[in-house]
Amino acid sequence: MRRSTRGARWAGLLAAVAIVSASFGGAAVSAQGEGQVEIFSYWTAGGEADGLNAIQEVFSAAHPDVEIINAVVAGGAGVNANAVLATRMQGGDPPDTFQIHGGAELIDNWVKTDFMQPISGLYEELGLADKFPAGIIDLVSHEGEPYAVPVNVHRNGVLWYNQAIFEEQGIAPPTTWDEFFAVADTLQAAGITPLALGDKDGWTALNLFEQILLSTLGAADYRAIWAGQVPWTDERVTEALEIMSRALDYVNEDHATLTWDQATGKLLSAEAAMNVMGDWAKGYFTANGWLPGEDFGWAPVPGNDGTFTVVTDTFALPKDVRNQDNALLWLTTLASVEGQDAFNPLKGSIPARVDADRSKYDAYSTAAMDAFASDELVPSQANGPATIPAFLQPITDAISVFVTSRDVAGTQAAISEACISTGACPS
Ligand code: GAL
Repeated sequence: MRRSTRGARWAGLLAAVAIVSASFGGAAVSAQGEGQVEIFSYWTAGGEADGLNAIQEVFSAAHPDVEIINAVVAGGAGVNANAVLATRMQGGDPPDTFQIHGGAELIDNWVKTDFMQPISGLYEELGLADKFPAGIIDLVSHEGEPYAVPVNVHRNGVLWYNQAIFEEQGIAPPTTWDEFFAVADTLQAAGITPLALGDKDGWTALNLFEQILLSTLGAADYRAIWAGQVPWTDERVTEALEIMSRALDYVNEDHATLTWDQATGKLLSAEAAMNVMGDWAKGYFTANGWLPGEDFGWAPVPGNDGTFTVVTDTFALPKDVRNQDNALLWLTTLASVEGQDAFNPLKGSIPARVDADRSKYDAYSTAAMDAFASDELVPSQANGPATIPAFLQPITDAISVFVTSRDVAGTQAAISEACISTGACPS
């Protein structure tokens, strides 16, 4: 696998973080391990739970005397887990290690607020400084020190489709929104739901919206809008909301009651033809026996060819944990080639390690590796805030309300005001 170096492609992913330096200090691994380790995550759906289980097996084989306490709180993107985590952290009851997105979600929520330990000693001991793309290390670093181990790189915002339906209907993946709506009309006429959505949890609607926004703004201005450098009053935001409103005419009627995986599952049952989701959906498909390029296909969201929306799942080390040595052993397993290559083929993501074994990955994931090495990299707000966390809730709420209201002007005004009032945009 090729190593991505920090450069122009990473600009805009890194707003909240500093560059990791060669100065190492902080926690380091010491023992072989006995006792317990509590691992806090939200991976409960098909694919993601399998990946977690596989890496836990790697850990248990190496550390048979350490009992894993698998503390999972269901809910995609951490929608429920993050609230439980906050209660525990603020109540002085941190898990030994927890799952968190690299970027502002880790750095602004937990590092800058002084809840976390740097793990530069571990990075030094394991020689990790050149084992992850520099831009990924930057996403988990603050003031020159790394605070988490990245276990993967997910690609968010992929257009997944049921291949049999597309073949039967004689349609191809749409490359423009005009083509998308033409394909959607064909599907609807055939009695098939064109686009599966499950927005019981509001992040999934934002997930769809941010991809539409990327298509109307292009990569550079998409990065700039999250950095507060393009105003939300821009007419291309209006255009994105209009496209979103039109696309919502083609989603399943029960969308408001479904979670992301239930919506993705509508492709498996052939109730729906397309779904826009991160490539944890690939893990869900393959966990259910589907094969890439045979049962399901993938394409960029219309207008987004040549871009790669980066999400990285990481584990971090809070201060004052009960089982620090064992937490460091867990982070060591996560950081290893063996651990990453057990986890990622099931999870749907590509390994964060640059020296992982490409032969262990399927056609989708090897294509994703190639895209990650060459595409324009952009951040996700719905999964690992591209901007300050304070802006996440109001924009998620505004887009959730929009799914029902379809009020383009009111929604755009609400987002614009929230960006300013939270300090994510200049006033
Ligand atoms: C994302 C996370 C993925 C996957 C997904 C659905 O936020 O990065 O690993 O779990 O949510 O739960």
